[in-house]
Amino acid sequence: MNEQLSQDELKKLVANSAIDYVKSGIIGVGTGSTANYFIDALAQIKHKIDGAVASSDATAERLKSHGIEVFDLNDINGMDIYVDGADEITEHMHMLKGGGGALTREKIVAANAKEFICICDESKYVPILGKFPLPVEVLPMAKSYVARELTKLGGQPQLRKFTTDNGNLILDVHELKIADPIEMEIQINQIVGVVTNGLFAVRPANILLLATSEGVKTIKKDA
Ligand code: 5RP
Repeated sequence: MNEQLSQDELKKLVANSAIDYVKSGIIGVGTGSTANYFIDALAQIKHKIDGAVASSDATAERLKSHGIEVFDLNDINGMDIYVDGADEITEHMHMLKGGGGALTREKIVAANAKEFICICDESKYVPILGKFPLPVEVLPMAKSYVARELTKLGGQPQLRKFTTDNGNLILDVHELKIADPIEMEIQINQIVGVVTNGLFAVRPANILLLATSEGVKTIKKDA
């Protein structure tokens, strides 16, 4: 394959390829346009699975619209795979996520899965995280305090006009120098009032399926 595919076509291609990893049981499902293509593909093989756990209200609605049962995370005992997109990912499988504002539930569902399968088009594969502004979910009363603390770390926080599924706010932090994503993920999460931040480095992806104009490449952690 070497025809020029659009970004949307690449997202669909990689989402379809993730279906090979779906065997049975309950599947953790991410949020965003790439995850939406995965949900549509999952619907074609829904007879193989018991259902899914959703990382957002939007994902839950889309799963249900396809007749896929949505389980409450508290009613199940983990899952084999979590499939989701990312805004950026490095060769170390560290991700920056939350462009769609679902970062906290995404991180919680991912924590319950044995394997995180990240599905991305090649524009998301970067040498260093941070060109995409880092989303930080904050409790509403803490937004100004957290913004000041993030500024001390060298970032330029901007309040997104958005309320999360959890009733909180998002600060999008520009200009952060993310030399050590694990360290920064921990540091930002320690600011009082932060619910979580969009760095997924402490728990990175296990498998990256990367759509390129030459086809889908499979990259495994520590391969
Ligand atoms: C949502 C996310 C998404 O995975 C990320 O924004 C990528 O989205 P898309 O697949 O639409 O490019 O983290 O919170």
